Amino acid sequence: MKPRVRHILQEWEQSQQRREAPPSLLFHENSKLTRPGLDELGRRIGRIMSEGLTKELARSWKCYPGHPQVELPRANLVLERGLQEVIVGRRSLRAFDPHRPVTLQELANLLQLSYGITGRLEDSGGTQYLRAIPSAGALYPLELYLMVQRVQGLDPGLYHYRVAHHALEALELADQSESMQRMEREWGMGSAPAFYLVVSALFARTMIKYRERGYRFILMEAGMLGQCATLLAECQQLHSCMMGGWLDDELNGLLGLDGSSESVVHVMCFGRAPREDAHG
Ligand SMILES: Cc1cc2nc3c(=O)[nH]c(=O)nc-3n(C[C@H](O)[C@H](O)[C@H](O)COP(=O)(O)O)c2cc1C
Repeated sequence: MKPRVRHILQEWEQSQQRREAPPSLLFHENSKLTRPGLDELGRRIGRIMSEGLTKELARSWKCYPGHPQVELPRANLVLERGLQEVIVGRRSLRAFDPHRPVTLQELANLLQLSYGITGRLEDSGGTQYLRAIPSAGALYPLELYLMVQRVQGLDPGLYHYRVAHHALEALELADQSESMQRMEREWGMGSAPAFYLVVSALFARTMIKYRERGYRFILMEAGMLGQCATLLAECQQLHSCMMGGWLDDELNGLLGLDGSSESVVHVMCFGRAPREDAHG
């Protein structure tokens, strides 16, 4: 092992022994389920379910009344390669083709098949809608925003995916190229992706039911959504990269989120690879 690496590991172990656990590990400790905690949670969940609250929460989709809507085509994905080939072939891309746009159909496939409605359950309490990825308690805490630069049929700008209508709500059509370009520079993008997918979480949707444990579930679900979206891109000869270095307050502010009840939890970008014969 290299001396520098050994030093970093020793530092980490010493800080652990001094009980300087970072807040994230304290959070992990405090959200562990114990036997009494599990019993308590079970009783509380029983009460909440009997009130029909979870169905209400699961249907509390965000929408922006009064904003123009763009209807999306229904998903029509046809796999030209097997799943194994898609998974093995996926690689993060950081420099995109600055000319060739993504089509609205490709974007619609990606949204509907990663977080759109794919099923429903009917009972006396009403309809419960189910989505493309699993969600703890079927509560679906995530909301999807798009920062669009090159998608056919869409003006560049900021959009929200209105899942119940499978449509996009245009939130801001002002030119955002300046803030996008700055972010791209900071994020080390070679050239602008066709769009960013920004995933936020409405924490209460899941945490009212699962409390601290619910926060873990929310991050798991954002990760599942990310993998689903990245593979859907790959299936359509698009490429993607996950972004870890966003400035939380800045990005929440751009989206109009308060950053506490709803906050960005995941950012990805998508686009086409530059043509191999394109030089200069
Ligand atoms: C949570 C997360 C955050 C990431 N953040 C960035 C990032 O900010 N910039 C970047 O270029 N790549 C980022 N990546 C991509 C990883 O660097 C990449 O997945 C890794 O190098 C493996 O390569 P592959 O995706 O091509 O298999 C991120 C990946 C994940 C899962």
